[in-house]
Amino acid sequence: MRARLGRRAAEPVTDLVVVGDCNPDVLVLGDDVTPAFGQEEKLVASISLAVGGSAAITALAAARLGLQVALVAAVGDDPAGQFMLAELARESVETAAVAVRAHCPTGMTVALSRGNDRAILTATGAIATLTAQDMPDTLLSRARHLHVSSYFLLERSLGPGLAALFSAARAAGTTTSLDTNWDPAGKWGDDQLAEVLAQTDLLLPNEAEALRIARAATLQDAVGALTRTGSKIAVKLGARGALCGDGLGQHLATPPPLTPVDTTGAGDCFNAGLLTGLLRGLEFPEALALGCAVGSASTQGVGGTGRCVDLASARDLARQVTVRPAG
Ligand SMILES: Nc1ncnc2c1ncn2[C@@H]1O[C@H](COP(=O)(O)OP(=O)(O)OP(=O)(O)O)[C@@H](O)[C@H]1O
Ligand SMILES: [Mg+2]
Repeated sequence: MRARLGRRAAEPVTDLVVVGDCNPDVLVLGDDVTPAFGQEEKLVASISLAVGGSAAITALAAARLGLQVALVAAVGDDPAGQFMLAELARESVETAAVAVRAHCPTGMTVALSRGNDRAILTATGAIATLTAQDMPDTLLSRARHLHVSSYFLLERSLGPGLAALFSAARAAGTTTSLDTNWDPAGKWGDDQLAEVLAQTDLLLPNEAEALRIARAATLQDAVGALTRTGSKIAVKLGARGALCGDGLGQHLATPPPLTPVDTTGAGDCFNAGLLTGLLRGLEFPEALALGCAVGSASTQGVGGTGRCVDLASARDLARQVTVRPAG
């Protein structure tokens, strides 16, 4: 197990290749955002269009933190896809490997958000057409790190080729990470996921996801089970921060309390902060604090990318995150 993420070869050009979902989010915010059926019209505080998709948010947040980032994803040949490509390019995310599918709509999410909690409706569209063959060999060979987001949305498309893709990446000196996010099917993986996890250097679930993937009753049991193969784990705990663990021990990072505006994408921004820290050579607990800082900051804006901090701000915020041994 390598101590830090990322190859050290002399000429890597892309720090981070992110693979996964790329779709606009329609964010509905207010104290009462529960729809009333029966053709009733209800007024809410705000509705906005934002960069969405866990992979796209992580890619954009990592680019804002100064990494060279490329996204591998699939969108439709429609205004929603054009919006995503334009927003990502504006933030210097390389989009040459985002496939544009004819006759398939761009995926779309509607998130009904009231501060700390939200309900999410997603039509996957082109998202679920992405396969391992969409990863250009040239991109893989120059990547320091390969991160996959939203495994469960891509379980039947990218999933079958993912273990081999991760294995090839690692053989070439590229480290790997996975954020499964929620499983809408409620099955929480099978042998295919086990094979992917065996090739994953760093797993990035939230607490509810970790318990389900590990089929464990407690967080400690889940961390123990999910690090047994020698991989690292960072578990996102919402306002309580995050816990990291590997074969050597565990640390808990606690951000200062704050009142969130919208928690959409906090986990994806956390991933960007943590990966940036590790790729810049920080030790795991320090990188965890950077992840918490970027995640917490994102809760102060609307959508996943409404408040993406740069590296200097992230470092300042990370100094206010308390890190202590745990477990
Ligand atoms: N209410 C909050 N107050 C302070 N920090 C928060 C809050 N919510 C999230 N964060 C920060 O963001 C990080 C990631 O958030 P969270 O635990 O919600 O991830 P997640 O469940 O994976 O989110 P996502 O819905 O984006 O997938 C946390 O570890 C924490 O640092
Ligand atoms: Mg998440």
